[in-house]
Amino acid sequence: MKTSAVIFDLDGVLTDTAEFHFIAWKAIANKLGVDFDIDDNEKLKGVDRENSLMYIIKKGGIAMEANQFNHLLAEKNEHYLTLINDINPSHLFDGVLTCFTTLKKANIKIGLASASKNAALVINKLGIESSFDFIGDAAAVAHSKPAPDIFLSVAEGLKVKPENCVGVEDAVAGISAIKSANMFAVGIGDAKVLTQAELVFPSMSEFDFGTVLAALLLMSST
Ligand code: BG6
Ligand code: MG
Repeated sequence: MKTSAVIFDLDGVLTDTAEFHFIAWKAIANKLGVDFDIDDNEKLKGVDRENSLMYIIKKGGIAMEANQFNHLLAEKNEHYLTLINDINPSHLFDGVLTCFTTLKKANIKIGLASASKNAALVINKLGIESSFDFIGDAAAVAHSKPAPDIFLSVAEGLKVKPENCVGVEDAVAGISAIKSANMFAVGIGDAKVLTQAELVFPSMSEFDFGTVLAALLLMSST
């Protein structure tokens, strides 16, 4: 395998927006009288807006008209937008810029594959738009994570074969998407949770591209 690109998820990988999604979903769930805890949140990481609300109403055994469903989606997003209002470059996770510099020096392309329709806004607030060779559009793909669509669309945008891409994710659904896209999966978080990943770093500050390349080499030699 010749690694030519690294494709990053956004929420929970480059910045702590995962926490804000959690707060906003918990508010909607509690308003509907549905309990929503860390385990629920773990399942919803990487899952798009519509399917996240579906999960909550199914958990609560609630039947809902399309109108109310759409209204709640808008309400959650408004709350989320308020929570991310003050995001700025200081909210980038430690290690992200160093990682980008290492990849650029090694001539590795950098892509973004987020399930969030707010990704462009967040990237802009973080001031890292120009670091990416291609930014995927969650609104333009047919199936959201755990389907591989967004990762495949970014590989296509980067003009790199999926098998020559490394995907980086903090969510179970995201790691599944990377695997279905036939890419090498790097998890950021807990290895006991991200069991499908080939390699897991506890945080972006521990992401080491040399270790990724060594793991890839080991894989191709066995
Ligand atoms: C993912 C988050 O990146 O984007 C999910 O992990 C979120 O929690 C999803 O629901 C969709 O985001 P948005 O901004 O389009 O509602
Ligand atoms: Mg994520």
